[in-house]
Amino acid sequence: MPSAGGTVYIETYGCQMNVSDSELMLGRLAAHGFTPVDGPEGADVILVNTCAIRDHAEQRVLGRIGELKRHLREDTVLGITGCMAQRLGPVLLERAPHVDLVIGPDGYRELPALIAGARDGRRAAVVDFDLEEHYEDVPARRFDGVRAWVPVQRGCDYKCTYCIVPATRGAERSRQLRDVVREAHEIAARGITEITLLGQTVNSYHDGAHDFGALLRAVGAVPGIKRLRFTSPHPNDFSDAVLTAMAETPAVCEHVHLPMQSGSTRTLKRMLRRYSREEYFACAARIRAAIPGVALTTDVIVGFPGETEADFADTLSAVEALGFEDAYTFKFSAREGTPATRLPAELTVPDEVASDRLERLIAAQRGITRAKNLSLLGTRHEVLIEKGARRGGLLQGRTRHHRTVLVSGDASRIGTYGTVELTGTTGSTFTGVPVAARASLPMAG
Ligand code: SAH
Ligand code: SF4
Ligand code: F3S
Repeated sequence: MPSAGGTVYIETYGCQMNVSDSELMLGRLAAHGFTPVDGPEGADVILVNTCAIRDHAEQRVLGRIGELKRHLREDTVLGITGCMAQRLGPVLLERAPHVDLVIGPDGYRELPALIAGARDGRRAAVVDFDLEEHYEDVPARRFDGVRAWVPVQRGCDYKCTYCIVPATRGAERSRQLRDVVREAHEIAARGITEITLLGQTVNSYHDGAHDFGALLRAVGAVPGIKRLRFTSPHPNDFSDAVLTAMAETPAVCEHVHLPMQSGSTRTLKRMLRRYSREEYFACAARIRAAIPGVALTTDVIVGFPGETEADFADTLSAVEALGFEDAYTFKFSAREGTPATRLPAELTVPDEVASDRLERLIAAQRGITRAKNLSLLGTRHEVLIEKGARRGGLLQGRTRHHRTVLVSGDASRIGTYGTVELTGTTGSTFTGVPVAARASLPMAG
C-alpha cells in the first residue's frame, strides 16, 4: 500500500446535499492518489457521511458505525463526516474510540492531510465553519452518470424552530453564477443531460449580482442540458422573476418540491416558517399559474409541539385541497439546541398521537397519489432512463414531472430519452411501454 492514498469507501446518509458533498470528498481524495471502492471490506479509509435531521437518522448511523468495526484493520482510518459530525464534534471521538476523524461539512478540503495525520496516530475533530468554502477547485467525482447534482448554495439562514440544519451547515452563502455555469458546461461535456441545483432554500440564491431566476436561465442555456431541476425551494422565495424564469426556460422541469411542513397557521408560526396557510396556498397557485400542469410534492411534519387535533385537521385539509403528487411525511423529532426544544414541556405531543396522525396523513396522501396516477394511465411521456430497476431486468426512467416509470429494455438505453405510454401503476410508480416517437396519441403532463 502506498504511504499516501490507498482505497477509500464513502457511505452516505441524508439529503442530496450530502450525496453531493461525498462526490466532492471523493474528488478531493482521488486527486491525492486515493482509489474509490464500492464497499468497506478491506478499504484503507472508510468515511461515513452522516445526517442529523431526525433522531432516527442519527441512531441508524451510530448503529452502522458500530457495525463497521469488524471491517477495521489496525491501520484503517475511520472518519465521520457531515451534519452529525458537525453537531457532535469531539464528543463523537470520545464516544467511539475506533473513530479517527470527525469532520464537518466545511472541512473536507483538509481530508488528505487529516487522513495522513490519523495514520500517524493523530485523531482529530474539525468543525469550524468556513463561509468562503465552496470547493470551487475540487472536481466532483460523480456517482451517477445520467444526472448531476450541483450545490449552488451552502448553509441556511431561515432557522425554522425544529431544524438542526442551520447549526450543522452554518450561514447561507451562494456560489458565483459563473462558477455554477462553468460546472454545468463540464457536466454537459461528459454527456450528462440533467442537472439538479441544490440548496437548503435554493431559490433564495443570490451571488450579489444574480438571483435564482438568472441562475436558472444561465444553466438552462448551457448546450446539452435538457432537464433542469432544483431542491428545495422555500415558498417565500418564489419571486415573480424566479417564476418567469422557470416558465421561460425550456429545460426547467414541470415539478416543484414545495415543503409545506404544516397546514395550520398557528403551527407554522411556531415553526417560524414565515408564511401562513393562506400564503402557502397562494404560492402553490402562483406556481401552477406559471407552469401549467406542474407536479407539486411536499414535506410535512406532524406532532410539532402544541399541534392540536384541529391543527392537524388543517394539515389534512391542506393536503387534500392542494392535491400534491406526493408528500414526504415525518414525525417531529426534537433536536438538541433547536428553539423548538425550549417550548413548554406540556406542549409535547405524545408519541402515540403523533404516530396516529402520521398514519392518517400517509393514508390520505396515498389515496390522492393513487387517484392521480390512475388518471394518467394511457398517457404518453418523455422519460430519461436513469438506471436498471431493482426488479425483473427492467429499467427505471423518470418523466419531466418526476414520475418514476419502469420499462423493459437493455442497459444500453441508460442515459437516453424515449417516449413511453403509462400502462400500469402500483399506486406510487408506473410501468410503461416504449412507443415510437412520432405516434399520434396526445402527449400529457
Ligand atoms: N431545507 C429544506 C429541508 C431540509 S430537511 C427545506 O427547508 O425545505 C428535510 C425535511 O425534513 C424538512 O422539510 C422537514 O419536513 C423535515 N424535518 C426537518 N427537521 C425535522 C425535525 N426536527 N423533525 C421532523 N422532521 C424534520
Ligand atoms: Fe431547516 Fe428551515 Fe432551513 Fe429548511 S429552511 S434547512 S427546514 S431551517
Ligand atoms: Fe441531513 Fe444535513 Fe442534509 S442534517 S438532511 S444531511 S443538510
